[in-house]
Amino acid sequence: MRIALPALIVLVSLHGSAQTPALKEAFRGDFLIGAAINTRQTEEKDTAAARLIPRQFDALTPENIMKAEIMHPAWDRYNFDPADKLVAYAQRNHIKVNAHNLIWHSQLPTFLRRMQDADSVRAYFVNHITTIASRYDGQVYSWDVVNEALNEDGTLRNSIFLKKLGPDYIVEAFRLAQKAAPHTRLYYNDYNIEQPKKRAGAIALIKKIQAAGVRIDGVGIQGHWKSGNVPLAAIEASILEFSALGVEVMFTELDLSVLPNPWDHNTADVGQVAANRAGMNPYTNGLPDSAQDLLASSYADLFRLFLRHKGKISRITFWGIDDGMSWLNDFPIRGRTNYPLPFDRNYQPKKAYFAIIATKNP
Ligand code: XIL
Repeated sequence: MRIALPALIVLVSLHGSAQTPALKEAFRGDFLIGAAINTRQTEEKDTAAARLIPRQFDALTPENIMKAEIMHPAWDRYNFDPADKLVAYAQRNHIKVNAHNLIWHSQLPTFLRRMQDADSVRAYFVNHITTIASRYDGQVYSWDVVNEALNEDGTLRNSIFLKKLGPDYIVEAFRLAQKAAPHTRLYYNDYNIEQPKKRAGAIALIKKIQAAGVRIDGVGIQGHWKSGNVPLAAIEASILEFSALGVEVMFTELDLSVLPNPWDHNTADVGQVAANRAGMNPYTNGLPDSAQDLLASSYADLFRLFLRHKGKISRITFWGIDDGMSWLNDFPIRGRTNYPLPFDRNYQPKKAYFAIIATKNP
């Protein structure tokens, strides 16, 4: 009997009698496959994850430890230790690090949030970017230089940086990063920039940076979407339009929520919180087959699209390793049980994982 290769892979894997092909191997030569991790994983306290990460991924993004509130807790104090450990871990395991992030309106240190005077904010901005970007130049592969600077309508978000430094702060952030980190790739990262209005805002931003003669190497579309409702047409248009600007396109925080959305819009704005109410947490005892299948087919549709444009896409990063560590268990409603990733709470590959791998052998 002849069995098609994808079917064989699924059969063998489900029975656990052979090694499942790894994500990074399946897509080698197409794009890097990454995941967001945190100190539990880099310090290898979690043995299952310690085995899984180097086998499955060739890129990683620190989920929190390189954000300003952790890296720069006081005006004249930096906390490099967790990031140094992460960099060493990645080097030992031959994994590329995308550092996340230099300038973002959220997870800011308290001293900065309280700052009123524009000159002090400017001094923070210059010191923060210069100190951190130069320390990790040549150690990390890339930086999300600016994260989430846009509103849904494509205008600039009214962050402390816009208010105190004015609309050129984004160009300035890239200029400072370019000087401090000449060997590091520099990216703009945001959610919903596949949507037409916000996409137009991102394109204008990238063009403005380029017109100033400042280097920007890529754009990260975060990719926090919903199972069964992935905006494929908008994503495809974005891949084409962003890559026409001569920059790398990446999907940097991919996860597909399977839970009800409390709102009629899709957001990854960490500042937005919704109250829990009846019906909002339906799968505390496990994900039904129908929802598991929908997640698998949503991921397969997405990866088929990615593969069609593989020459334009440099990296796909999942926002987490396994369902248990996903931020979507607490966003936008705290304490739910979500299943947005290709690995389950026991680090076992889900149907979604096999569906993703199978897109390589249609
Ligand atoms: C999230 C982390 O996953 C959480 O652990 C943290 O509490 C809040 O931030 N967009 C981003 C990420 O760029 O940094 C956010 O990460 C998710 C949305």
